[in-house]
Amino acid sequence: SLYGLKEQGRNTAVLGIVGNPVSHSKSPAIHNAALQAVGLDAVYVPLLVDDMPSFLSTFTDLDWVGLSVTIPHKQAALQGASEVDPVAQQIGAVNTLVRQADGGLKGYNTDWSAAITAIERGLRPGLKAATDAATSPLSGKTVVVVGAGGAGRALAFGAAAKGAKVVIANRSVQKAADLAAQLDPPASACSLDELASGAVKGDVLVNTTSVGMQPQVDDTPVPAAALAGYELVFDAVYTPLHTRLLREAAEAGCAVVTGDTMFVGQAEDQFRLFTGVEPPKGLMSRVVLDSL
Ligand code: ATR
Repeated sequence: SLYGLKEQGRNTAVLGIVGNPVSHSKSPAIHNAALQAVGLDAVYVPLLVDDMPSFLSTFTDLDWVGLSVTIPHKQAALQGASEVDPVAQQIGAVNTLVRQADGGLKGYNTDWSAAITAIERGLRPGLKAATDAATSPLSGKTVVVVGAGGAGRALAFGAAAKGAKVVIANRSVQKAADLAAQLDPPASACSLDELASGAVKGDVLVNTTSVGMQPQVDDTPVPAAALAGYELVFDAVYTPLHTRLLREAAEAGCAVVTGDTMFVGQAEDQFRLFTGVEPPKGLMSRVVLDSL
């Protein structure tokens, strides 16, 4: 934690994002804006890392307070953490490492919490308190998670933790079935064709694939005809903000939640974990939206 740093003021604390590639990341811009705004003596830098285990063994010697972790190092970050949050453990991926008092690194996953909170607020506007499986607006709903990669895992375990029934739809059905079997209770799995045909239906649809991302903005993971009847559609893609999936979902009468909420929310949650300080409301979101 950076608590007390401002008073100390001698050594600038260092934070960073490790990934490969990492140069395109908006994380340094948004974290530095927030660090500056709250007046902490700290800097956040991009770190292009190839070999995560060897990086982490060096990192223990440094007086760095925390790291964001992105592709392809989220599994290695989990392996390298001295302690891991239980949901991050289930997901099998850590996107946040926070220095502990004993020098170790605790691993968290803020991808799922940010996306799930944004979806919960979309279902129940004005929702403030943290929810569990008994109080979440997702409880009892059927959530169709499109994609079975890292983001799909995060959303699937997150929705299950909130008491939702989960369906995993993926291009590779075997990968969907493998993920579905890991959930407790097990989720069901289907192909993208079954989803497109309308044979599989739900209340909330979540796209975690890259389909529809710039420059392929005319693509969509789920055709318009299959969107009728969903209460809410969330797209993790945020370039562009209003993907074809979300435009067609809005036309079909669904509430829509844009992917910037997941990206901004995971960064805000990381900032809280790194610093113990609340990020200025709306600041990270403005920096991200200005950069799009
Ligand atoms: P992430 O960590 O962002 O989830 P990932 O682990 O590489 O990324 O997973 C990518 C996901 O997007 C997978 O579910 C992948 O489907 P497959 O498992 O069948 O490969 C999905 N995906 C990527 N490109 C796709 C495309 N053109 N059509 C359909 N699904 C696609």
